[in-house]
Amino acid sequence: MSGVIRKSQAETLDGTPEKRMFWSIANDYGLKTGICELVDNALDQWILGGRKFDLSISINLDVQRQLISVQDNAGGVKQEELRLLITPGGSRNNPQDEVIGIFGVGSKRAAIALGEQVEIRTRYREEQAFQIDILPEWIVSPDWEIPSYKIPDIKTGSTYVDISRLRNPLTENDVDTLRLHLGETYDWFLSEGCEILLNDEAIAGRSFNDWAYPPGFSPNRTFFEIELPGAGRLKVTIVAGLIRDRVPELDNYGVYFYCNHRLIEKEVRNRAVGYGVSSEAGVPHPDASLCRAIVNLYGPARAMPWNSNKNAINFEHLAYRQMRLILIQLVTQFTRLSRRLKENWNDQVFRYDSGEFQEIPAPQIVSAQRLILPELPRKPRTSAAKLKRINEIQLDQKSWLLGIVEAMEAVEILDSKPLETKNRITLILLDSTFEIALKEFIVHRTDLFPPNGFRDKDLIDLFSSRERVIRIVVEKRPDLQSQVDQTRHFYNLRNKLIHERASMVPTDKEISNYRMLVERILTGLFDLQFPK
Ligand SMILES: Nc1ncnc2c1ncn2[C@@H]1O[C@H](COP(=O)(O)OP(=O)(O)O)[C@@H](O)[C@H]1O
Ligand SMILES: [Mg+2]
Repeated sequence: MSGVIRKSQAETLDGTPEKRMFWSIANDYGLKTGICELVDNALDQWILGGRKFDLSISINLDVQRQLISVQDNAGGVKQEELRLLITPGGSRNNPQDEVIGIFGVGSKRAAIALGEQVEIRTRYREEQAFQIDILPEWIVSPDWEIPSYKIPDIKTGSTYVDISRLRNPLTENDVDTLRLHLGETYDWFLSEGCEILLNDEAIAGRSFNDWAYPPGFSPNRTFFEIELPGAGRLKVTIVAGLIRDRVPELDNYGVYFYCNHRLIEKEVRNRAVGYGVSSEAGVPHPDASLCRAIVNLYGPARAMPWNSNKNAINFEHLAYRQMRLILIQLVTQFTRLSRRLKENWNDQVFRYDSGEFQEIPAPQIVSAQRLILPELPRKPRTSAAKLKRINEIQLDQKSWLLGIVEAMEAVEILDSKPLETKNRITLILLDSTFEIALKEFIVHRTDLFPPNGFRDKDLIDLFSSRERVIRIVVEKRPDLQSQVDQTRHFYNLRNKLIHERASMVPTDKEISNYRMLVERILTGLFDLQFPK
């Protein structure tokens, strides 16, 4: 048979790891990642124990003596499980649980990466307390055995990790940075009754839910589940919107990822989430800096798309690939909105500080992927003053055109405003501008309409019927017949809006068609110019 190799056993090899593997797993650890691993372990115990008591984690960074210590009252480690604290890959966590620790490397990696000398003391409930010392000699010796010591009682259910002979000098600045980082990373846990102290001062949580709710464009929320073969189901909630807490120097926008409530990565603005030249959301730019998306993943630790440091998302991960297109659409939507409103964020965004999320149904099959999102305001086609500038000569010769030009400017301005009923206002404005244009044409083209035939009284009489006005204008200007005919449809819409019991709402498409039509007629009648 092809493909089967004949084999017979030669010997049994010893697969015990070498100590040097500690270097590989510790090398990309810094103060933040290291401390967070130790915090994560206490949080996991607390979560797995059903959050029955108030968890307290106390971190001390002693800059003067160059010592780090982390203590918690999460429950302690049983004697028979002490080995988990030093065995690479050793873990008690079930990969199906909604926890943080999964790889079984955190505690040892953190301890070893932070300093050369580590003392771990732990006491499971009321039982005997133990200590393990991880010393430089053990790290270099090929031997994996390590003694544990019985020690006098420490607080029940507590674990202390004391690290000295630090690999990197500690500074006051580190303390400040860590304080912010812990507040952001563990915001949810802090709000759920867990306390984290840093140098005896409680950490304050920091969330990123500082949303703006412009009319029609409040933050969008979508929820769906994804299945990872062999790893389980993840629940995914994404909220995307415009923010009110923009700090230009901080670049605090983009995508934020939380896994099982812990912040993993923030302010992501790469190709994988939709940014980049010619990508959906375009290149990251201050104009786009009001767009934020917060992704919350909840489910089995095994299924999470995080890296083993828990400080970045693995964008190649199957879990991420399944949510990618949905996230990109939301990022694109609010990035564009941020740009479109950039002329006036204060009035159009920041002042709307409360409201409700708009729920966006996720597609049934997540990979089908097209979300139905609200239509964005149109790009401002020209600044208002520009319209007057391009028609300078016409306005110079016929100052009475000013009202018409400015009415079209008003249409332009309205277009960029976040008014929920602006299509109604625009319809009335366009239709009246068209009617006024016909009147101005009759009144001012005395060569075509001799003034003695069109006195004030005649005009009032004439204008009681739009049809008659159209007829006499088209008589003189047959070239405009078809355009003028098309206005009837919009005149009907306007009449429905004004006279019928149930007010109709013109669509964006209708408004944009009518606007183009009126522009073309104004060009035909008065040679007024409009930007393409
Ligand atoms: N502070 C702690 N309190 C109680 N148990 C702990 C603590 N730190 C570590 N442990 C135990 O040691 C195990 C190994 O921790 P770690 O190396 O961080 O791997 P992981 O968190 O991936 O399980 C944990 O699964 C847990 O059982
Ligand atoms: Mg861990």
